[in-house]
Amino acid sequence: MARFETQVGVVGAGPAGLMLSHLLHLRGIHSIVLEAKSRAYCEERVRAGVLEHTSVQMLNDAGVGERLEREGLRHDGIELGLNGVRHRVPFVELTGKYVTVYGQQEVVKDLIARRLADRGDLRFECGEVSIEGIDSEKPRILVNRDGQTDEIHCDYIAGCDGFHGICRGAFPEGVLSLYERSYPFGWLGILVEAAPSQKELVYMHHPRGFALYSMRSPKITRLYLQCKPDEDIREWSDDRIWTELHTRLNCEDGWRPVEGRILQKGVTGMRSFVVEPLQYGRLFLAGDSAHIVPPTGAKGMNLAMADVHYLSNALGALYVTGDERNLKSYSETCLRRIWKAQRFSWWMTSLLHRFENEPAFDRKRQLAELEYVLSSRAALTSLAENYVGLPLDRQ
Ligand code: FAD
Ligand code: DHB
Repeated sequence: MARFETQVGVVGAGPAGLMLSHLLHLRGIHSIVLEAKSRAYCEERVRAGVLEHTSVQMLNDAGVGERLEREGLRHDGIELGLNGVRHRVPFVELTGKYVTVYGQQEVVKDLIARRLADRGDLRFECGEVSIEGIDSEKPRILVNRDGQTDEIHCDYIAGCDGFHGICRGAFPEGVLSLYERSYPFGWLGILVEAAPSQKELVYMHHPRGFALYSMRSPKITRLYLQCKPDEDIREWSDDRIWTELHTRLNCEDGWRPVEGRILQKGVTGMRSFVVEPLQYGRLFLAGDSAHIVPPTGAKGMNLAMADVHYLSNALGALYVTGDERNLKSYSETCLRRIWKAQRFSWWMTSLLHRFENEPAFDRKRQLAELEYVLSSRAALTSLAENYVGLPLDRQ
């Protein structure tokens, strides 16, 4: 058995864990990051793609935004489609802010490279992780690999291990309240080798179900189709995918997505989920380990970034000045913003998807709401300010 000491033990090397470790390093705080998967797996996993203005600022302020500024695609708005007609939501005009399209795996690559350049302690394929003593002064992370157990003694543990991680389960029974809602659909996503045929993302309402036109780079497009929650991807040939995409996305003005080689396909489930509180003893949850949003509002990775912004500031205040107040209010501070993002993600999802078997009244109401949003500068401004990212609360 080997014994290690660190100030903050971080479980998970997704955007939350890596960014936290980097932000702590900038404050002179030592951390060890434990990741179950390989570095290549983390760097290649295709997930979110839209960075809020707030997340971009955070990455720039932390000195890890150089490639993002060079390669990220600035989007000054999105388009909402209804009845084959696209309507622009001009973010910059409405809010003065924009979003940046830059793949989550690129953020992860940049953060890993920077942590390693700074001699950070990242342990990929670490083995099986468990945690102990979270209500003691010195919680421990146990890492079992090939029958050998390492003990990592920490001041604090950050559970950044995503929805399927182990940290949430380490809270004593009865401490957590769970708030959850599922949706009767999922998204079938494809990554395509084709130059985007449209400058901005298109969120399309269609009687057959929602479709989203997105992109990753000047050569790669990303498209999604609303599908059944348990859709079997093997039943979707490339031809079937393209036919459905054209049916839902083709517009009256002749715009249509350009086809290309499909590089990857997969189905993502949809769920809204929050646990409260985010802290027990010396264990703090951040990112997907504490909350999941349906992807329609593009909030998942951004919320993870906001959580670790608050957590690193709070730990910074504690180690530098001994002030515990922000750490004590971490959960409350994060949850205020998390619930606003939950509301927005639920709203965008409800506005744009087809709900099978819903009463005809609700279908009519949904169309009326969409028409109202598209006709009202006030409603569009509300959508825009949520999409580009609400300001981070002062701690
Ligand atoms: P994660 O990125 O999940 O990172 C957690 C890390 O912890 C992982 O690397 C995992 O391997 C590791 N881990 C887990 N358990 C253990 C353990 N026991 N020990 C050690 N390590 C562990 N959001 C959007 O906004 N738009 C999208 O289009 C979108 N698409 C998505 C598609 C999929 C398939 C999924 C799953 C999520 C998607 N999301 C999307 C959500 C977004 O990707 C997440 O919100 C974001 O990854 C959260 O970052 P995180 O660091 O909290 O968690
Ligand atoms: C992407 C994903 C989203 O959930 C979204 O709302 C916009 C874009 C994407 O993967 O590109």
